[in-house]
Amino acid sequence: EKQGYDWFMRKEIFEQPKAVADTLLGRWSDRGELVLDEVRISPEELRRINKIVIVACGSAFYAGMVAKYAIEHWTRVACEVELASEFRYRDPIIDPMTLVITISQSGETADTLMAIRHAREQHARVIAICNTNGATIPRESDAVIYTHAGPEIGVASTKGFLTQVVACYLLGLYLAQIRGMKYGDEIRALVDELESMPDKIQRVLDGIEPVYELARKMARDEDAVFFLGRHVGYPVALEGALKLKEIAYLHAEGFAAGELKHGAIAVVEEGTPVFVVVPPEGRDQLHDKVVSNIEEIRARGARTIVLAEEGDTAVSAFADMLISLPRCSTLLQPLVAAVPLQAFACELATAKGHDVDQPRNLAKSVTVE
Ligand code: M6R
Repeated sequence: EKQGYDWFMRKEIFEQPKAVADTLLGRWSDRGELVLDEVRISPEELRRINKIVIVACGSAFYAGMVAKYAIEHWTRVACEVELASEFRYRDPIIDPMTLVITISQSGETADTLMAIRHAREQHARVIAICNTNGATIPRESDAVIYTHAGPEIGVASTKGFLTQVVACYLLGLYLAQIRGMKYGDEIRALVDELESMPDKIQRVLDGIEPVYELARKMARDEDAVFFLGRHVGYPVALEGALKLKEIAYLHAEGFAAGELKHGAIAVVEEGTPVFVVVPPEGRDQLHDKVVSNIEEIRARGARTIVLAEEGDTAVSAFADMLISLPRCSTLLQPLVAAVPLQAFACELATAKGHDVDQPRNLAKSVTVE
């Protein structure tokens, strides 16, 4: 039941600290190692893998896009991410040395299922990341890592998405450990940081009221809304746009911030609302590049809603509204940055009077191709 919430989606947004914590539970052994007992593929075989391909649809695909950055960084194995519907019908190059990671909340998505059947026919190994016990996709995979989000009822994925990112990160760290790319202390430090995320997500939720206010205000205009991000913030931007399309029926688009000058900036005009996900300050040059993107769109009249790390002073001059995110490393930022975007979409759709849990034309699981 909805436990006092107006929508399952809102309830599920607020369940995210627990969903993330549950997905992380029991992954550290007394021997000082990350354990993923469910991954019943031998370490020898996982050491031989020379390519990783992630296949998924919708939000799960965006979770895969986020994961690619981390998995390649930690394992140094080339990792591709592809929409399941594209992968299946283009004769992809996969063989027994390819590890296919499939991500599906429901475990029943037809395109994803067809993709893994195809991969297994080519003798690739398949690990499913899934939230539904005993669903078809995990049954047809070599191994499964379950996300422990609990049932997700709202059609728009929220806790499903966040826990998929977490499960992919655990798998990435596990592969790095097996392949000797990362050692005990380093992995422990990353797991520690993952374990600090539920509290940080909770802090974002505790401060969500201004995001709701903005959504209620924006429900009165019919403007298109744009989302910009870079690095792992790019799939977060795509996910923010997808939420808004799905439940608020607004034209929403996510862009890679670096692509602005290659076309997207042409659509920015006076008053265009643009959400920008800013990478954490000071760790690399990405932060400054995104800040200058904000400056550019602002100069063209955009209304900027900036999601940036707390204490980031560089952004305040260019933000019409600032949403502070708890401090964390770049790779983990999606776990906090996605949350205000989910809440924004939920509140805006509510204010427009839409059925948030059962949006028009959409089904929770897409079991036809
Ligand atoms: O059950 P799955 O994770 O395989 O579903 C994939 C997509 O259909 C799903 O993420 C869809 O895009 C959501 N409605 C997004 O909110």
